[in-house]
Amino acid sequence: MTASSRETALQVIEDCLRISRCTEDEHVLTRTFLSPPMVEVHAILRASMERAGMEVRIDAMGNLRGLDRGSGAVGDGARRRLLIGSHIDTVPNAGAFDGVLGVALAVALVRGLAVRRREFDIEVVAFSEEEGVRFSVPFLGSRALIGDVDSGLMKSRDVAGVSVEEAIRNFGLEPLAMADAVVSPDAFGYVEFHIEQGPVLDLMVKEAGKPILGIVEEIVGQTRMVLTFTGESNHAGTTPMKLRRDALAGAAEWMLAVETLANDRQGIVATVGEAVVRPGAANVVPGEVRVSLDLRHAEDSVREKAVRDLISSAEGTAARRGLRVESRIQSEQRAVKMDAALTGRLEAAVTASGAVPHRMVSGAGHDAMMMARRVPSAMLFVRSPGGVSHHPDETVMVEDVQAALDAGLYFLDALQRA
Ligand code: HGY
Ligand code: MN
Ligand code: MN
Repeated sequence: MTASSRETALQVIEDCLRISRCTEDEHVLTRTFLSPPMVEVHAILRASMERAGMEVRIDAMGNLRGLDRGSGAVGDGARRRLLIGSHIDTVPNAGAFDGVLGVALAVALVRGLAVRRREFDIEVVAFSEEEGVRFSVPFLGSRALIGDVDSGLMKSRDVAGVSVEEAIRNFGLEPLAMADAVVSPDAFGYVEFHIEQGPVLDLMVKEAGKPILGIVEEIVGQTRMVLTFTGESNHAGTTPMKLRRDALAGAAEWMLAVETLANDRQGIVATVGEAVVRPGAANVVPGEVRVSLDLRHAEDSVREKAVRDLISSAEGTAARRGLRVESRIQSEQRAVKMDAALTGRLEAAVTASGAVPHRMVSGAGHDAMMMARRVPSAMLFVRSPGGVSHHPDETVMVEDVQAALDAGLYFLDALQRA
């Protein structure tokens, strides 16, 4: 690792912290699809990309894209293209590095390459939306690059009733130009640098004695759904317990069944992250509760069976309690394997750069799950100290970012020699 890559790593971290101040909520970091603070994030990244000599555009889904024509470019001739990207939206009350680190690091890699001859272009993509917070459907940005945007998706509405299409127009973009967002046919690969967001690398770093970087072999599949339990709201003081049809008590019983199933079945993680109680007053028996379910597993058949079992468990609970329940799957994403050849090159680059590679499965979803449907894709993880993410305490160590930069440069050099 060179001194300059340490300075670059510090700059990458500084860029992430600066971007983390672009938020919808002055008290915490929250930045959802095409929200107002995204204008400022685009301005910061555009300036950084242009300083690195890149041609910058925003596509119809609000992805910010910088193209670096390799030093070997002759005219505008079509040339092989490597994409490097990640997302710039966040969950509510987020940390500063989920997604943004991958974009800031990609721009730094291109800057670091300026002096090296290269026979392929690099396109850096800052995906507009990956978390699925505003519209409950994830990967809006990368879906546009793989041509997976249909009218149903464009009609999805947020809690304010604004559709995806309207959100795009409100941001000053043209939804009819969506086809121009599709990834170039010259793309031969996609690489994503991302924080691990879990404890694996952090538990191994002491023994490794030097920076350890995750080489992602597979990203687990995920199902996102919403269940609505309907009972009868009534007076909290006068309604006897036996006569109640309490929607929240029913949902609570089911949530414990979710936790029990996930504990009993190896490798399943299941989360109820959202609950909306109506009418939502302390002295009213809840009449309706809408809860979310996020369920993941590396094997699609195990995940699908768990979802089926939890839907019938909800129906059983509702029947026993005189409630109604309806469930709706919002998105399903199959487990995705990363490209073996590109992953092998990434692993070799980590070793060549002096860090320790560790092959692993990603429990978190990433844009690489979408991109892998169109181009060979690979991911490199940077350690999450304390295994914390989707939380303000999410952080990175400069030596790990430096190791990722060094490995990235070795990787690009190896591609150049290939
Ligand atoms: O939820 C996830 O796995 C990712 O952070 N979008
Ligand atoms: Mn995330
Ligand atoms: Mn992420």
